[in-house]
Amino acid sequence: MNKVLFYQKGTPKNQIQLWDLKLRQWYKDFKLVHLNDSDACEASIALLWKAPMEKIFAYKNIKSIISLGQGVDHIIKDTNFLQNISVFRIVDPYMAKSMSHWVILSILNYIRDYDGYRMQQDKKIYKSRNFIDFNKIKIGIYGIGEIGKVVAKDLFDLGFKILGWSRTKKKENYFKSFYKKDGFDYLVKNSDIHVCLLPLTKETKGIFNKEVFSKMKDRVCFINAGRGQHVIENDLISFCGKKIDLAILDVFNNEPLPKKHPFWENPNIILWPHVSAETNIDTAAEQVAKSIYLIHSGKVPKNRIDINLGY
Ligand code: NDP
Ligand code: OXD
Repeated sequence: MNKVLFYQKGTPKNQIQLWDLKLRQWYKDFKLVHLNDSDACEASIALLWKAPMEKIFAYKNIKSIISLGQGVDHIIKDTNFLQNISVFRIVDPYMAKSMSHWVILSILNYIRDYDGYRMQQDKKIYKSRNFIDFNKIKIGIYGIGEIGKVVAKDLFDLGFKILGWSRTKKKENYFKSFYKKDGFDYLVKNSDIHVCLLPLTKETKGIFNKEVFSKMKDRVCFINAGRGQHVIENDLISFCGKKIDLAILDVFNNEPLPKKHPFWENPNIILWPHVSAETNIDTAAEQVAKSIYLIHSGKVPKNRIDINLGY
């Protein structure tokens, strides 16, 4: 029986049984083994989320890795080890919609001052507060791929003007496409709300730093649900309450965010514990099972990662 290795960090012990059950609804010809099982070294496919990669690479039979999330930065750390390994990822419309809900929630709370009204209710104050006119602002979305495009379309349908930044030019009519360095600078200087939905690669690491924050308009909202390492955290802190009116963050350099981290106490930062778009076994199992089946059949599944690009 073909062994498929499994490791998903930060999930309950029975997660492997849950995946096993859901995958078997679509394909049965495999045995799921945990990274620490004695027969894990026999597996040729690995399903991974934030695994200790040195252990995975020590198993020389592994030829394919499927990321149990949309991001693959947890796998693509040392490309030397990936020369003979193909990497695939989940691309789940459910996750893109979840992210879209979270970004919309964050933006609407911000422009309508939800927290201000909650505070007023506590004090029994009945009066209107300042709001930001959605007609007068631009939302810059950095990373306009499988997730970014869904977020852009939903925000556009709500009446917002969207600028989208990517590596290659796009043709969609619900956002204005910008690319390369000039395009990035345009978004930085012209957006009122910045939304980072980029993958973490060597090109995008640390992309939001003091030089970039200093070019932004005054009193912007900065939202990050890409990866924590997109942001130089100390630089962000030094701009909070000045150029940055509010930062809404779902991802961090170190997760879980250490208890002593200054983000916790900052009044201009709202924190979420990396939950904006979690993998949903119910909606993802079919495609993961199909990928395992295709690999076993000598075929190439969808959503293969370009190791050189890193996403
Ligand atoms: P995609 O690969 O579909 O899209 C990535 C986008 O980023 C593309 O538009 C791509 O450009 C652009 N991009 C990549 N590198 C560059 C670069 N150097 N310069 C400019 N643009 C670049 O990824 P997804 O939309 O599926 O996911 C994006 C990220 O979201 C994931 O990698 C992950 O980090 C994060 N994520 C976070 C979650 C959470 O819960 N917080 C949940 C799921 C994902 P192009 O279109 O030209 O290729
Ligand atoms: C992902 C994530 O990349 O949950 O899927 O961050």
